Amino acid sequence: MTIKEAIRERHSVRQYQDRPIEEETRLALEELIGRCNAESGLHIQLICGDTGCFESFLAHYGKFRNVRSYIALVGSSSLNGLEEKCGYFGQRIVLEAQCMGLNTCWVAGTYSKGKCQAELDGDEKLVCVIAIGYGENSGSRHKSKTFDKLSAVPEAEMPDWFRSGMIGAMMAPTAVNQQKFFVELEGDEAKITAKKGFLTKLDLGIVKYNFEAASGHKCR
Ligand SMILES: Cc1cc2nc3c(=O)[nH]c(=O)nc-3n(C[C@H](O)[C@H](O)[C@H](O)COP(=O)(O)O)c2cc1C
Repeated sequence: MTIKEAIRERHSVRQYQDRPIEEETRLALEELIGRCNAESGLHIQLICGDTGCFESFLAHYGKFRNVRSYIALVGSSSLNGLEEKCGYFGQRIVLEAQCMGLNTCWVAGTYSKGKCQAELDGDEKLVCVIAIGYGENSGSRHKSKTFDKLSAVPEAEMPDWFRSGMIGAMMAPTAVNQQKFFVELEGDEAKITAKKGFLTKLDLGIVKYNFEAASGHKCR
């Protein structure tokens, strides 16, 4: 599966099979996380075999079942653009994980933050987690806002790469599917901004990653 296919295939999955991530796959994920940390300065961690983080009332209310592994997005509070970076690098991991046959769900609310097994050094902060494992199902496609709500560029005037990027961005996960982002075309560059609101900076990093991967163009 290519990353572009992974963008289309990925949906949030909240129910998992009761089996651990295969050793080879786990090692590949660890290796990828190591590269993301080296590039970003984040301290992302893969935690396997912990049932506590998703056993609270909140997690059941959120319909989570059998979450045994998760990725903790952690970074120093003093890191510039901490939340956007977590979104960007977290989504890179999510899409690679999809290619490895895994399913995921971004989770900022319906888990037990206090029971999360991530290590926090110095001034580090836990931004959110991503549930990961072999899904009981593959989730379903979310409803999306239309092109005209997400960009001022008329669809008919979009360069092909920009339109591909927009479709990738529309398929990106955002908190409560809020899609509070806006994409502009400045010269030959796309500029994506977050609207005001809850978790929109985290969403922005996720959307930027999807846009870039779908269009093959870096964005601002
Ligand atoms: C930053 C962020 C936080 C999220 N937090 C939660 C959460 O606490 N609980 C939950 O069940 N889903 C959570 N989600 C999943 C979203 O509800 C989901 O991505 C969105 O509805 C779009 O659906 P899709 O991922 O299937 O495309 C979160 C997603 C993002 C991006």
